[in-house]
Amino acid sequence: MHFTRMGSYEHAEIPIIARGDGAYVWDTNGKRYLDALSSLFCVNIGYGRTELGEAAAKQIEELAFYTNWSYAHPRAIELATRIAELTPGNLNRVFFTSGGAEAVEAAWKLAKSYFKMRGEGQRTKVISRKLAYHGTTMGALSITGVPALRETFEPLTPGAIHVPNTNAYRQPDDIDPLWAADAIEEAIEFAGPETVAAVFLEPVQNSGGCFVPPDGYFQRVREICDRHGVLLVSDEVICSWGRLGEMFGCQHFGYVPDMITTAKGITSAYVPMGALIAGDHIAEPFQHGVNTFAHGITFGGHPVAAAVAMANIDILEHEDLCSHVRTNEAAFRDMLEGLRDLPIVGDVRGAGYFQAIELVKDKETKETFTAPEAEWLLRRYLSNELFSRGLICRADDRGDPVIQLAPPLIVGREQFDEIESILRPVLTGASDRIGDLASLTAAA
Ligand SMILES: Cc1ncc(COP(=O)(O)O)c(C=O)c1O
Repeated sequence: MHFTRMGSYEHAEIPIIARGDGAYVWDTNGKRYLDALSSLFCVNIGYGRTELGEAAAKQIEELAFYTNWSYAHPRAIELATRIAELTPGNLNRVFFTSGGAEAVEAAWKLAKSYFKMRGEGQRTKVISRKLAYHGTTMGALSITGVPALRETFEPLTPGAIHVPNTNAYRQPDDIDPLWAADAIEEAIEFAGPETVAAVFLEPVQNSGGCFVPPDGYFQRVREICDRHGVLLVSDEVICSWGRLGEMFGCQHFGYVPDMITTAKGITSAYVPMGALIAGDHIAEPFQHGVNTFAHGITFGGHPVAAAVAMANIDILEHEDLCSHVRTNEAAFRDMLEGLRDLPIVGDVRGAGYFQAIELVKDKETKETFTAPEAEWLLRRYLSNELFSRGLICRADDRGDPVIQLAPPLIVGREQFDEIESILRPVLTGASDRIGDLASLTAAA
C-alpha cells in the first residue's frame, strides 16, 4: 500500500472502503463514514454520480482508446478547448497526463525545453517551498520540500532549490508580510537568474497544513518572476476544480501563472487524469518546423478520462459548486474557529473547502509536540478515534501536527455539524491527555 506502515496492520484490520454515495463512504462491515477529505482531496463532486459512469460507457463504446502521440481524438480536443475557456489569461494549451506528479514533471521538462529553444538552455533550476508536496516521481520529488520523503531517494534530480513557505502562525507581528515572496527573489539572485527556469507554488500549500499566502504574495512573486524572466507554475493538483471556490486556485488569489498543473478534481478521481496547462507563449516555440516537446505518456488524454472529465465539469457548472463553496466556506470556517476554545487547538487556517487545524501543547507559547508525542497523538490517538467515530480527515505530521479537512464540495451545514460533533469530543479527549503525554508516549 502507498505511504503505509504495513506493520500497523500485522494485528489490525485494514480499512476496506467498499461503497460511496454523496459525501459518505461505507466499509466492508457496512459502517458509514463522512469523507471530510474527499479521498485525498479528489472526489470534489461527491460519490455515486452515475452520469460519469454513463459518459465512460458511451466513450468506451465509441472509442475506448487512441493515443495522443501524433494523433488526436474528439474528447481530448473538446476537453482541452473547454479547459482553455475556463483558465485565466492565455493559459490555452493543455498537455494531458495520468496524474499530478506527471503534470509537475511535464511542467519542469517543458520549462527546460522552452528555454533551450529560446537559446537560454542554461535555465534549468527550479524553486519551490519548504515542506511543499509536489509528487513522488524523481523530478517532482526533487521539487517536493518534505525532507522525510526525499532522504531515502537522494541523490534526486539536480537543480531544485527550496525557499520558506507562508506559514504565518509563529511569525512576529511586525514582520514584513511579503518577506517570503522576497525570499524567492533572493534565491533567484543567489542561484543566478540566468540559470533559473521556474518557480513552483501551490495557491494554498497543502503539506504543513493549508498555508495561505498573505495578501499581495502572488502579485509580488509574479513581479519577481517577470523581472528575472522566470516562469511561474501554479501547482493546483489540489486547489483547482472548485476546492477554493473557483475553477482554478490562481483565480481565487488573482494572479495569472505561466503554467498550471492539475489532477485529482479534474475528473473528481472517477478515473485517473492530470494536465499541464501552459500559456500560448510557452507553447509557441513548439508550433514550427521540426520543433517538438520530446515528452509523452501513453495514457495522456485517455478518451475515457477526457469524457469523464467533461461530465465532471458539467456537474461542477450545472450545480454551480464554486458558488456553493463561496457561500458556505464561512460557515465551515466558523465551525472550525468555534473549536478554538479547546486547549489543543492552536491555529485554524485555509481557504474554501480546504482547511486545517494546528494542534499545540501550549496555546499561550504556541509550543508544539515532540516527535514521540506527535506520533502518539496523531497516529495512536486521533486517527483511530476519528475513524472509529466515522469521520475521515487527515491527521498529518509532515510539519507541526495538523488535522486537515477538505470535504466534497457538495457538503453544507448538516455535514459541518456532523464534523463538529465528532471533532469536538475527540479533540477534547486529546486536550485532556496533554499533561499525560510523557507517560503515554513512554508506554507506547
Ligand atoms: C500539489 C500537488 N502536486 C502534485 C501532487 C502529486 O499528484 P499525484 O499523487 O496524482 O501524482 C500532489 C498530490 O497530492 C499535490 O498535492
